[in-house]
Amino acid sequence: MAKIDLLLGLQWGDEGKGKVVDALTPHYDIVARFQGGPNAGHTIEFDGKKFILHTIPSGIFNDNCINVIGNGVIIDAKIFKDEIDTLAASNVDIKDSLLISNKAHLITPTHRALDAANENALQKNKIGSTLKGIGPTYTDKTARRGLRIGDICSDDFRNRYENLKRIHLEQIRNLNFDMDTLLLDKMPFEEYEKTWFEAIEFLKQFQFIESEYFINKALDEGKRILAEGAQGSLLDVDFGSYPFVTSSSTIAAGACSGLGVAPSRIGKVFGIFKAYCTRVGTGPFPTELFDEVGEKLRKNGHEFGSTTGRPRRTGWLDLPALKYAVMLNGVTNLMMMKSDVMDDFQEIKVATAYNYKNNEIDYLPFDACTQTMTPVLKTMRGWNQKIENKIPRDQENYIEYIEKYVGVPITLVSYGPDRNEVIERPAKYSL
Ligand code: GDP
Ligand code: IMO
Ligand code: MG
Repeated sequence: MAKIDLLLGLQWGDEGKGKVVDALTPHYDIVARFQGGPNAGHTIEFDGKKFILHTIPSGIFNDNCINVIGNGVIIDAKIFKDEIDTLAASNVDIKDSLLISNKAHLITPTHRALDAANENALQKNKIGSTLKGIGPTYTDKTARRGLRIGDICSDDFRNRYENLKRIHLEQIRNLNFDMDTLLLDKMPFEEYEKTWFEAIEFLKQFQFIESEYFINKALDEGKRILAEGAQGSLLDVDFGSYPFVTSSSTIAAGACSGLGVAPSRIGKVFGIFKAYCTRVGTGPFPTELFDEVGEKLRKNGHEFGSTTGRPRRTGWLDLPALKYAVMLNGVTNLMMMKSDVMDDFQEIKVATAYNYKNNEIDYLPFDACTQTMTPVLKTMRGWNQKIENKIPRDQENYIEYIEKYVGVPITLVSYGPDRNEVIERPAKYSL
């Protein structure tokens, strides 16, 4: 029986998922997104060109691949249209290779406004949301009043939109948020809303499908499918550093509910992580560096958000957190990204445990957000040379130490943003 493989970020997002999905796509017939929305920013670079995808799966640069936006994803029609227009400007036409689930929920303009109002009300306790309306849209999905892609073709769509808008405006008023100060994609609300409705019309030219049947039938026919995660395990709504998380299930289980595939149909689980750590937004980050080393990681790694442009916080690799993510996802293969960023480091540190409430622990406690957790760091020798096609001995030591700590092989090492800048390590799976 054919299985669906998963590719998941194991940290706080931005691990390089877009690059790896694009590199793996020639081995797959279908690439499918299963959760998240335009809070994601997945970068793909090849032939000197660079693309950042937000809603569209990263398989689109391969002509033979079908791309599916699954039921667990949430879609902002305006952001989606912008993405399609940007691709069209580079002669990438994906109309026939992109299929969208009827059941995917819609992000409306007032979801975005409510996101801004919620964050504004939290003041210094802000989540650091990307302000794309993610939290409010998943809230409405759970509250059973959301609008879905399939609804846009129904006669009472405008009515249902207005009803939802009324609820949101009431909530926004209660939060004392001034809608007149709000700009969405640099536009005042009314103008943005008009553009959004135009984008809804644009959306209608795409194929809306019952994606769970499509995916399961494809598996029955022996098609090879890769599910592309967004965000990362440490931003998962259940297991991330709550409440500083996103509002979807970013782990392997999310692929089952976000595509309608049974757990028994999951095959390989590729877990990807940076050779260090980054985080955008608020929330605990035990190995965070506030010194010139952190600055160097940010500078070498160009660590600025793909979606918001915000500087990313940086720190050493956190092994207890990585092991936690490996456990939650059942990772079968690890892929280490951005190793080149530390090419000029004399020494490298990794966290092997935390000091927490006067104890040394190697797990993530539920109150990590309110307690101080300082890392126990192990120092290793840096490889201190540029990587090209071959893994240097000191990097091999670093890799073996990580493998031993988390118990899963690292089968791919990435050393640059281009799709070809990868080194395979001998293991059970190869590109
Ligand atoms: P994603 O959200 O997981 O797809 O990752 P992002 O695209 O948000 O961020 C990853 C960034 O690192 C992008 O700018 C990529 O082009 C870049 N990148 C990916 N792999 C590597 C690598 O191995 N080395 C370097 N230097 N950059 C990389
Ligand atoms: P990709 O797929 C990094 C973070 C935000 C914030 C928190 C909640 O590119 O890895 P939200 O907008 O979801 O309500 O924000 O989650 N966040 C991400 N950080 N990469 C992402 O996606 C992210 N998507 C959300 O910064 O801290
Ligand atoms: Mg990203």
